[in-house]
Amino acid sequence: MAERVAIILAAGVSTRMNTQLAKVLHEVCGRPMLAYVLDVCRQVGVEKIYVVVGFGDEQVRERFGEASDIVWVRQPKQEGTAHAVLCCREHLKDFEGETLVLCGDGPLIRAETLKTLFERHKAEHSAATLATAVLDDPTGYGRIVRDASGNIQGIVEDSDCTSEQLGICEVNPSYYLLNNKILFEAVEKVRPDNVKNEYYLTDALSLIIAAGHKVLAFTAVRPDEARGVNSRAQLSVASKIMQRRIQRELMENGVTIVDPDNTWIDIRAQIGQDTVIEPFTYIHGEVKIGQDCRIGPFAYLRDGTVLKDDVVLGVFTEVKNSTLAKGVRARHHSYIGDAVVGRNVNIGAGSITANFDGEKVNRTNIGNDCYIGSGAVLIAPIELKDGSRIGAGTVVSQEEIDKFGRKE
Ligand code: UD1
Ligand code: MG
Repeated sequence: MAERVAIILAAGVSTRMNTQLAKVLHEVCGRPMLAYVLDVCRQVGVEKIYVVVGFGDEQVRERFGEASDIVWVRQPKQEGTAHAVLCCREHLKDFEGETLVLCGDGPLIRAETLKTLFERHKAEHSAATLATAVLDDPTGYGRIVRDASGNIQGIVEDSDCTSEQLGICEVNPSYYLLNNKILFEAVEKVRPDNVKNEYYLTDALSLIIAAGHKVLAFTAVRPDEARGVNSRAQLSVASKIMQRRIQRELMENGVTIVDPDNTWIDIRAQIGQDTVIEPFTYIHGEVKIGQDCRIGPFAYLRDGTVLKDDVVLGVFTEVKNSTLAKGVRARHHSYIGDAVVGRNVNIGAGSITANFDGEKVNRTNIGNDCYIGSGAVLIAPIELKDGSRIGAGTVVSQEEIDKFGRKE
């Protein structure tokens, strides 16, 4: 059996999202929420991950496919987080170690925090350890209730709080590490005695405390990683926080982002040193940008774009699924789709690759040192030889090139 195991709860109906898509498939900066949670588990050495799925389970499994470290567990009816954990009993009943329990709707989780959770749990010989957060506005979260000497007494869900408890700012971000045996003994005993009539995992913690086991709750989760996503508004908040992280890392790696608030960069994007991203640039999907490029303002780079070094893309330039070699310039109002563009090519204002013929997408090949005048339309499939010059306003097809083009 694996040394470290995790259960990720991802079966919820997500009523508050008002969606037909499984909640954990909603994307934060270009990746589904669940992907982030799976990642941090792997980063802290979790070898088996039990993902509990229910609402939209087929969509989730299809999106993530079969991974050797994932075991999909079905929760037939969504009766609460304790019930979701209980669905893993058959798989984990003989497991002697410690089980990490996380929620799939918490994409902001960081591996550093989980490392601390493992360390403290071990050092303090706890039966259960939870990392908490202190929030200015704790609305919606389970509150950590402590006794006079500061020991945790239990977690009370927002909807079950007294008016006094509602004022508690220490909350439960749902980062738990528990002795597996004690966890399952407790979840079996949870009853749905609450406003929502659900089996709460948080009640299992109260039962573990009441049984006299050592439970440790310590504040280790930063406010910006505690936020779970239960609604579209919270999805946008989580995305904004993730966006700041992505941009901070890029800046640390030597990328200039002139106006972070007005720039959006996908987590899958890679950007080289000394590249400058001007305001209102949107980078979506797997995009690779080299060094010393200048992108934007108002540039739109889509999936499959590869820019080598020294590329300049200016206002309202859109690039999709294309590779642009070193020194390419497209400063104004262009569309480059499904193309390979050679070194030092200049693409004039308003020139486009007409890549879609109404049925299929076709490719454009532009050789090195070509000059494309303003307002040119290159009808794909088309190939321009090295050094070709296309006059302003021309509509060019392969047929015409073959007929009238420069013969070498
Ligand atoms: C939960 C916690 C709350 C905590 C908050 C942090 C409980 C009872 N409450 O509340 O203390 O502050 O997370 O974000 O645990 N799920 C299932 N099956 C179910 C119900 C839920 O798999 O039957 C999954 C959901 O898909 C979700 C996670 O469990 O990923 C948490 O459920 P959710 O309904 O979002 O609970 P919160 O109200 O956010
Ligand atoms: Mg939630």
